[in-house]
Amino acid sequence: MSVRAVVGLQWGDEGKGKLVDVLSEGASVVVRYQGGANAGHTLQIGDTTFVGHLVPSGVFRPEVLNVIGNGVVVDPAVLLDEVGALAKLGVDLANRLVLSERAHLVMPYHKLREGLDGEQGRIGTTGRGIGPAYVDKVGRIGLRVCDLYEPTLLRQGIERGVRGVGQLEGATGSVPDVQDMFDRYLDFGRRLAPFVHDTTMLLHARLAAGETVLLEGAQGTMLDVDFGTYPYLTSSNSSVCGASSGSGIPPGRIDHVIGIAKAYSTRVGEGPFPTELHDRTGTALREVGREYGATTGRPRRCGWIDLVALRYAVALNGTNEIALTKLDVLSGMGDVGVATHYEIDGRRIDTFPASAAALARARPVLEHLSGWREPLAGVRHERDLPTATRRYIEHLERALATRIRWVSVGPERDAILERDA
Ligand code: GDP
Ligand code: IMO
Ligand code: MG
Repeated sequence: MSVRAVVGLQWGDEGKGKLVDVLSEGASVVVRYQGGANAGHTLQIGDTTFVGHLVPSGVFRPEVLNVIGNGVVVDPAVLLDEVGALAKLGVDLANRLVLSERAHLVMPYHKLREGLDGEQGRIGTTGRGIGPAYVDKVGRIGLRVCDLYEPTLLRQGIERGVRGVGQLEGATGSVPDVQDMFDRYLDFGRRLAPFVHDTTMLLHARLAAGETVLLEGAQGTMLDVDFGTYPYLTSSNSSVCGASSGSGIPPGRIDHVIGIAKAYSTRVGEGPFPTELHDRTGTALREVGREYGATTGRPRRCGWIDLVALRYAVALNGTNEIALTKLDVLSGMGDVGVATHYEIDGRRIDTFPASAAALARARPVLEHLSGWREPLAGVRHERDLPTATRRYIEHLERALATRIRWVSVGPERDAILERDA
């Protein structure tokens, strides 16, 4: 019996979808616990590429129950689209997908508010209504999945939400119609009904039966609303700290935390990014690594791996083991940079600063390790990795004082190797 969490250690897009798909072989349950359709988790199964925004990444494992926990903010239209797209691929989610009745709903006025209050420009948000949905949750005026079955409450909530957005500057002409929205959400409620459960008690029953649970984080630690680069981050606890509140699994039941990190760094959206490369290497990482957003298609900003941020993320999550991804992308890039510490206002800084303004002034101090030219895509055993690649992995392992157990060398399910203990 075990409960494991897979958590992004950087700014998202580390390859969580792929790793969860790999690790969910033989697991009983996969749980998404926070975020919403801002996430884009890519699964490449044979010739099929599927990007999941809300469904957990265990969907391609017929034996796995996929749970959308209470901490997720759910856009019903996106979820139903995903269920439909998976059905077309022959993936039947009947009895294999459950949705928490406590999860909050993303409403059309959330997306409108995100557009009107300038968040999209200031922070570079994804436009999926995530920030405003969490604002309403914490402000105790949100609508939840269970409210889809309480028509009076649903209608009152919609009226309040529409009134709120109507008072915003610039809203004229775009205010949604209450009746239309009410009818649409009642219909969503009917179509989602087979999936809706008390997922907390269901998870507790599964745990009591000794089943294996995998918690799937969205975004990454540096986007966590408490611990990331505030205010340039998302509106939920995307570190392991959100796993318990977002699923109802008590913190003490989480046995093992797997941190996932790319072999370099990327960030999409605004905010300080000390190791960002504005040169040809940055462009090469983006093109070779196909670093374009899985949700918005935006080009991701690219740079070297950042040990200051990673040491912080590894500690914060209580990371037991690391999966290092996209190592294949570094082949042929020349020497590989590793930021060991920062200099801010002339001072050496080894710990991750709280202030985004200070971080924006940080100059990364880089160490350069020998690179390698050999492609890694076909490598399945550690012994077949070039010596320089092995040295790079061992260097990171020492610097982070944490075992790097998996190394991913391509987007496909089998393009991963497990290192010797
Ligand atoms: P997530 O949000 O953490 O699930 O990651 P994304 O799916 O947004 O981004 C990761 C991208 O890298 C996807 O296109 C994956 O198919 C791809 N990918 C995952 N692992 C590897 C890898 O080891 N090598 C390469 N080249 N691509 C990978
Ligand atoms: P996955 O799960 C990378 C970023 C956005 C923006 C900030 C806030 O695929 O790793 P939001 O819409 O959440 O209010 O946007 O967070 N962001 C992500 N970046 N991967 C993600 O998810 C992200 N989800 C949000 O680009 O900078
Ligand atoms: Mg992604």
